[in-house]
Amino acid sequence: MSTVSDQFGRSLRDLRISVTDRCNFRCCYCMPRDVFGTDFPFMDRSELLTFEEITRLARVFAGLGVRKLRLTGGEPLLRHGIERLVEQLVGIDGVDDVAMTTNGSLLAKKAPALRDAGLTRVTVSLDSLDAQTFRAMSDVKIPVSRVLEGITAAADAGLTPVKVNTVVKRGVNDGQGILDLAAFGREHGYIVRFIEFMDVGDTNSWRMDEVVPAAEIVDAINAAWPLEPVDPTYIGEVAARYRYLDGAGEVGVITSITQPFCGTCTRARLSAKGELYTCLFSGRGHDLRAPLREGAGDDEIERRITDIWRRRTDRYSAQRTTVTLGLPKVEMSYIGG
Ligand code: GTP
Ligand code: 5AD
Ligand code: SF4
Ligand code: SF4
Repeated sequence: MSTVSDQFGRSLRDLRISVTDRCNFRCCYCMPRDVFGTDFPFMDRSELLTFEEITRLARVFAGLGVRKLRLTGGEPLLRHGIERLVEQLVGIDGVDDVAMTTNGSLLAKKAPALRDAGLTRVTVSLDSLDAQTFRAMSDVKIPVSRVLEGITAAADAGLTPVKVNTVVKRGVNDGQGILDLAAFGREHGYIVRFIEFMDVGDTNSWRMDEVVPAAEIVDAINAAWPLEPVDPTYIGEVAARYRYLDGAGEVGVITSITQPFCGTCTRARLSAKGELYTCLFSGRGHDLRAPLREGAGDDEIERRITDIWRRRTDRYSAQRTTVTLGLPKVEMSYIGG
């Protein structure tokens, strides 16, 4: 196995694979309904990488040092037969973690099959336990109870540790909503991570005054249930972790706005149509599907990925200014966050 480092010495360790750009939710911070309406031009089926193509690319990435794969979307469980892909990915030499980020709405049905296929664990997005607030954030009629059933099914199937991702927007789901979710995590042993609302994509009308700084979130939780910081599980972990002093598990915050973590960013992202993005905030990706479909061998694909990663200088969050805000950026639903 070879390894590859970028211009700042960051190696390539994680690959986030988007399997579809579609989603059955319309979260206000990700796929606002006025942009992603009924006539939105989603990718055509023929444009999507097949499971075989994804597996082949993942194997090449693993040969370059990738150890962790994460399936994302849009909503990855909308991709028909996704468990077959999981089965192929877990068999790749060197890969020791295959996780999925999902909105949970189809999880109750899918959890046992995903576990049987070898999925390691799931992370479920859930912005509120309150029916009305949940709806305000997700902009769908699917009830929050469906997501809760999905989370329970994942835990029952052993897709653990179950993590819960909560994007916090000031004035929408902050305040008591945060404490309610923290209590929910404590009660069931889920790791809730509160995410600062990010300026990802060009359509979510991001404003700094809607960001709740992670420090404020930690203070509020700490006042209710005292916390202490915990070391990262691995170098470059996205979430900052805290442990409840009374032993009721842990909670995390993702601080892309107030404390960027670009210095240790080892993540590559593959879009559903096979473009490699070297940053969540990139304006463009690098097409890997064309060489794949034109018959390039694994060596050639590996050479392309190596060239791209070696040139990488991304550190968007660390450079975020009013100027970077205006740059064109890929949509979150396109590369799965
Ligand atoms: P594990 O630590 O493996 O459990 O997963 P994770 O936290 O890396 O993945 P997850 O999909 O749960 O991501 C949580 C949030 O962090 C999402 O909102 C992501 O968009 C965000 N995130 C993940 N990676 C990055 C990154 O490299 N940069 C930024 N700015 N945000 C990221
Ligand atoms: N800011 C922060 N997190 C976001 N996510 C989607 N859009 C945003 C945003 N603008 C989160 C989702 C999901 C994860 C992959 O990304 O809630 O949990
Ligand atoms: Fe769908 Fe996830 Fe985006 Fe919400 S955040 S619209 S669930 S892809
Ligand atoms: Fe990595 Fe880009 Fe996120 Fe920085 S902003 S942590 S470089 S994905």
